[in-house]
Amino acid sequence: MLARFIARQLADPQGLFGRTVMVRLLNRGNDELISGTLSALDLDPADRFLDVGFGGGAMIEKAARVIERGKLHGVDRSADVVAEGRRYLRDLLHAGQLELKRGDVQDLPFEDGAIDKLGTTNTVYFWDDLDAGLSECIRVLAPNGRLAIGITGPDKMHDFGDVTQHGFTIYRPDELVAVLQRHGMVNTRVAIQYGRTSFGDYVVTGDKP
Ligand SMILES: C[S@@+](CC[C@H](N)C(=O)[O-])C[C@H]1O[C@@H](n2cnc3c(N)ncnc32)[C@H](O)[C@@H]1O
Repeated sequence: MLARFIARQLADPQGLFGRTVMVRLLNRGNDELISGTLSALDLDPADRFLDVGFGGGAMIEKAARVIERGKLHGVDRSADVVAEGRRYLRDLLHAGQLELKRGDVQDLPFEDGAIDKLGTTNTVYFWDDLDAGLSECIRVLAPNGRLAIGITGPDKMHDFGDVTQHGFTIYRPDELVAVLQRHGMVNTRVAIQYGRTSFGDYVVTGDKP
């Protein structure tokens, strides 16, 4: 019962618990993987950056420290996550540096080639269709754009016990690499994470030709 509740909140944070507790837990627990994912993206101050499934907003907050002339975007399928993001990230929104939208990875609200760097952490397990989601991420990337996907690896996932039995699809990093390559991405690589909390995580990266 508790495991199912936590799994649902991770997949789609909602209600008072989702807006207050879960988003904070995500920002704290995923901090190292988020940093590893941003490091793989090698941000430039002029980049147009998108975080898919931004949750508590920590990756957008960190990206904003580098992106000065470009633009930050966040998309999440949860209405409550978007509402909380509008509160938490209000300074960036008011400065015109950030746009937050509700949406699904399979139907991103952007023109082809509108994004230079796309990051997503701990989201792929909840997507309805990995192939369709990654194909859509690649569609919105500009030529020479980069995609980085932060995931918790299968061994660590199994250590989480019951929670991951509810609605998670667990992937090995090489499975993600294979999908990226099938969609024409180049320079694909896997960075093993060694941090205190990110041990057992991976960042999978690819570039759009
Ligand atoms: C476990 S949380 C991770 C949040 C954040 N990326 C992090 O690393 O802390 C998963 C997030 O992905 C979002 N999400 C799940 N499936 C999605 C989809 N198909 N399209 C867009 N967002 C999705 C959820 O609403 C939730 O905010």
